[in-house]
Amino acid sequence: MCGIVGAASANDSIPFLLAGLATLEYRGYDSAGLALLPNEGVNGLQRARSKGRVAELASKVAQAGMSGNVGIAHTRWATHGVPAEHNAHPHISGGLAVVHNGIIENYEALREKLQGFGYVFTSDTDTETIAHLIQACFKGHIGEPAENLLSAVQCAVAHLKGAFALAVISEEEPECLVVAREGSPLMLGIADDGHYAASDASALLSVTKRMMYLENGDIARLTPESISLIDRLGQPTQRNVITSSLNANAVELGDYSHYMQKEIFEQPQALSNTLEMISGAGQLQAGIFGAEAADIFAQIDSVLIIACGTSSYAGMTAKYWIEQVAGITCNVEIASEYRYRQSVPNPNQLVVVISQSGETADTLAALHHAKALGHHHTLAICNVPESAIVRETVLRFITRAGPEIGVASTKAFTTQLSVLFLLTLLLAKANQRLDASTEKAYLDELRHLPIAVGKVLALEPSIKAWAGYFADKQHALFLGRGRHYPIALEGALKLKEISYIHAEAYPAGELKHGPLALVDSEMPVVVVAPNDETLEKLKANMQEVSARGGVLYVFADSGSTVTSSENVHVLQMPDPTGFKDGGFKTDDFKSTVFKSTDLKNNGLLSPVLHVVALQLLAYHVALVKGTDVDKPRNLAKSVTVE
Ligand code: F6R
Repeated sequence: MCGIVGAASANDSIPFLLAGLATLEYRGYDSAGLALLPNEGVNGLQRARSKGRVAELASKVAQAGMSGNVGIAHTRWATHGVPAEHNAHPHISGGLAVVHNGIIENYEALREKLQGFGYVFTSDTDTETIAHLIQACFKGHIGEPAENLLSAVQCAVAHLKGAFALAVISEEEPECLVVAREGSPLMLGIADDGHYAASDASALLSVTKRMMYLENGDIARLTPESISLIDRLGQPTQRNVITSSLNANAVELGDYSHYMQKEIFEQPQALSNTLEMISGAGQLQAGIFGAEAADIFAQIDSVLIIACGTSSYAGMTAKYWIEQVAGITCNVEIASEYRYRQSVPNPNQLVVVISQSGETADTLAALHHAKALGHHHTLAICNVPESAIVRETVLRFITRAGPEIGVASTKAFTTQLSVLFLLTLLLAKANQRLDASTEKAYLDELRHLPIAVGKVLALEPSIKAWAGYFADKQHALFLGRGRHYPIALEGALKLKEISYIHAEAYPAGELKHGPLALVDSEMPVVVVAPNDETLEKLKANMQEVSARGGVLYVFADSGSTVTSSENVHVLQMPDPTGFKDGGFKTDDFKSTVFKSTDLKNNGLLSPVLHVVALQLLAYHVALVKGTDVDKPRNLAKSVTVE
């Protein structure tokens, strides 16, 4: 939540700050601001803030003709105080300015204390407390007067409770920028013309690929020439400099209208990249999850999956796979619930945390909670290699979806599913439930997945034609059964997130236990209808809807024999056997060896295909409604607050 950038450069920092904010806008976008230290001839700290998007800030900055070599900037996702200019960062105390990502839990007590010293607050934010607190440390209202900005920040940080990443500048030391990290991500960029900071590596790419990830407790002082770094104990320290493998082009929109559309269409490639290590394999090796994976998989007696939102639906889908194929009990917990409830710990359980960003506050805290309860077999499935969650588990698998910018998760979800299927197979092997030929057949199906997803993408024109039916509706129901119930949940989440249509998902058998009361001609009912063992039951559920005047939109596998009629619209999912000759050349999807299989239906991996159709439906409904697809209201990409 919220994005911060900072620069201590030999050149004007404005181009970097604005480009960085534009890249980080996905983290929060209800207001933005920046502050600069005076270049020669200009007096005093300069600040510009605006409600709304970075583009509005950029025009304010251009009109004011601002420039400066040392500066900080912020794009906000409101927590304390409404989105408004007076709540936008940077917050100022005297000649000192602060931007902040995270939440200060003890800000009310601090605010009262600081008001007692005469500090006047002009915003409703927790961040303004930090600005006054640093000033109070400088002035000696708290402790001895600090000698310099670094020690003032060090003093202030010692009084803060919560999660934060901070960037601070002061007129007292116009050549430097001080940053601090506790809980929220922060990294430094090392370039020829200076040193930079950002809450996300992608924001640094416009100036450098050489980066240093700060650890919790670190405070750094950056000038154009140097970086001095101290750890939590105040000791000088060093962190590794890495060369980021991120590609600046990967976060560009290219020919697509929206990042969400681009990311939906990148799924064959994202899956292919994620599954690259099994491209030629006839057998899976547990080592793909980490050196200790084989030992751990052999020891565990059950699986506990912890995640939030879309990632939790990946976990719910995996529960069906793991229990069916591996014969191991699997439970799925919403991270924000698990961390506060009294659960029964089981040290023989494998705890799997799933997170696209790797920095979701609730998932991270739930992992800490599990570890505190004595769970030591931990595994992260994540799309960001250096993220907090990944660094805190014993085992890990990094999905290779590439940066996901659209707030609504798409390619991160399907790549998570592909990894969870690999995990299922390895657990089944460890539990002696998978013979070599079945393993090979499953691997073939996985390798086939990018082509199969490509076939679903080819349905876009037909799905687009349905979008108009939904756009004037207030509500929608999504139905699925078995492993497709979590897919119905994900389809409903996608629709409500980006089109603002209220959507609910139910296991289709539950309909008659309550939600059927809602069904009328104004309530479209979307049905995920694979040709599997639950199909006949599902058809009966569809009859229940039809009999009440409901209008059905059915994504049916070929062979499902669901026929269209006036109030039953059927879209035929691609024929799995037809994938053999496929419209996609293997060269389209790097390195993976695609082998045809003798699929009768889309098998256990069918959820991955059905969800792609639902993503396209949500996208096209949102387009018709004209919503801000990539930045839906009230949301942000990385949820780093509780
Ligand atoms: C919905 C969506 C969210 C995230 C959730 C967890 O499209 O993206 O529901 O799935 O906020 O985020 P991660 O996976 O980063 O932990």
